[in-house]
Amino acid sequence: MIKSIKGTKDLLPTDVFNIQDIEKHLVQFLSIHGYGEIRTPIFESTELFARSVGEHTDIVNKEMYTWIDQNGQSLTLRPEMTASVIRAYIQKQIWKSEPISKYFYIGPAFRRERPQKGRLRQFHQFGVESIGSDNPEQDAEVISMAYNIYKMFGIEKLSVNINSLGSIDCRQKYSNDLKESLKKFKNDFNESEIKRLENNPLRILDTKNKKIRKIIEENAPSIFNYISNDDKKHFDMIKKILNELNIPYIHDQGLVRGLDYYTKTVFEITSDALGAQDALCGGGRYDNLVENLGGKSVPAIGFAAGLERLLIAMNLENEENMFTDIYIVNQETQIIPQIMNLADIIRKELGVSVYVDSLRRSMKSQLRHADKLNAKYCIIFDYEKLKTEKVYIKNMNENEQQIIHVEKIISYFEQDS
Ligand code: HAM
Repeated sequence: MIKSIKGTKDLLPTDVFNIQDIEKHLVQFLSIHGYGEIRTPIFESTELFARSVGEHTDIVNKEMYTWIDQNGQSLTLRPEMTASVIRAYIQKQIWKSEPISKYFYIGPAFRRERPQKGRLRQFHQFGVESIGSDNPEQDAEVISMAYNIYKMFGIEKLSVNINSLGSIDCRQKYSNDLKESLKKFKNDFNESEIKRLENNPLRILDTKNKKIRKIIEENAPSIFNYISNDDKKHFDMIKKILNELNIPYIHDQGLVRGLDYYTKTVFEITSDALGAQDALCGGGRYDNLVENLGGKSVPAIGFAAGLERLLIAMNLENEENMFTDIYIVNQETQIIPQIMNLADIIRKELGVSVYVDSLRRSMKSQLRHADKLNAKYCIIFDYEKLKTEKVYIKNMNENEQQIIHVEKIISYFEQDS
């Protein structure tokens, strides 16, 4: 038997129904905040991710799906969307026509991570990128939008963690000091941790190794102490706005995030509902990325969130949510053509959903199925009643039944709607 690839998921109609419902709310929410949808290709040149997410990050080093195309070009399935959005922004030179551009996206991303609950190899992200403003109100808008999305979906026990990494210069100085402070513990590090410390010391702060975490806690300097006064002011203003907006947050000085493009503000929202993979979403400012990828110097900030993790937090993972408005129950083979025509007429004239059984099941089974589909009404074609051209209409919620003439079916539902 050919099976799906580890870490990928088939979505059946109930899952898709839940996801589409969430997407509908997201699109509405993001649109009223002035963000428009952008769709970029799911594969890009590998170089794009190496130069943005960072050559020495876990994502680029070990998690990307990369292959050499027939013409010798290295291509990669996107592990995230920010790089692609910025590539599109630069390619179209959008700064020439817009002082600020606000985009949102929803779509699949790919990382070859070890699969577990809330961690997949093909997952879905929704997110925003606001390109053009370097003011702290823009950071606060993005953080508050992320927070309010989870509130909108009824997720409680949220924790908003924020920090500032300062500019690239101060990161450089911090990286050197961090390396220096941890050098003497090298014997406790494994090979890949030593590599991290050498090539990209900031990434050592993401380690899951408890022993190393303790060493870091006790010995490593905090990046926040390296940031400039201007960056501190920027951070203070964000906190002020978040206070005014009643958004609770924690200043987590250990938060650095796993992608290299960040400058100044970084943030993550976590939830108790998720267990080990507790990050619902993450984001931050990346003021140098547009320029580094060949565009003008334009500041930007955004966040991305895992759709599957939102479903877990909402407890919708295995929720059955199928429905139909009307279920036509029929056992008379000779009237099947008329029944199918009736279903079409109701759909067209009333715009409601109508389900017709095609398994020729017993009356009891059809009624049970109608119940499972949360049908609001059943139209029951019963042999005896048909002799007088009458049908039963069963209101499934009220558990009431009426007998009406077949000619009156449409007008019955017209009145009811
Ligand atoms: P990230 O923290 O790598 O950031 O991913 C954002 C979110 O995507 C995570 O918080 C998580 O919910 C979800 N996610 C990541 N990997 C997986 C996975 N293997 N399975 C399921 N869900 C996953 C970024 O991607 C940045 N582009 C965010 C950003 C946008 N920063 C600025 N703008």
